Amino acid sequence: MASLASSAQLPSLSTHERDEAGRELQAVLVDLVDLSLLGKQLHWTVVGPHFRSLHLQLDELVDSWRALGDTVAERAVALGVMPDGQSGAVAAASEIAPVDRRAFEDHVVVRELTHRLAEVSDRVRGRLERVGELDLASQDVLIEVLRALEEQQWMLRAQLGSGA
Ligand SMILES: [Fe+2]
Repeated sequence: MASLASSAQLPSLSTHERDEAGRELQAVLVDLVDLSLLGKQLHWTVVGPHFRSLHLQLDELVDSWRALGDTVAERAVALGVMPDGQSGAVAAASEIAPVDRRAFEDHVVVRELTHRLAEVSDRVRGRLERVGELDLASQDVLIEVLRALEEQQWMLRAQLGSGA
């Protein structure tokens, strides 16, 4: 993890705590950037009777993921750890399965996105305890991320109907 050259004026964490918290924040940033890229892909390729509402909803989700990623990245910088949200770093580290380059029916978009969002939420939840041991302010950022992702997960799940 790339640390700032000078430790002067940085929050009073140990180098270990700083690097480990930065590593967790970087992993969440990667997930959020990749979610935002996936969201745009689905925004472009959704078809079907619910095209318009999903097309618009996907842009709202992308905006949310970009804003959350910004918060996560800036928390890393505040700690003195440089984040990397560039395509190479995201492609190398992301665990989110890509979708094929084709059109997707609206109900398939909701199902596929719900599935991937649930996996990302679970990963964020799995980092909470460890980050809390390192830095409570970073944990607070991840709690904000998790709360937003799980709300989105609920809303997408509701669109799947009672058979989901
Ligand atoms: Fe658009």
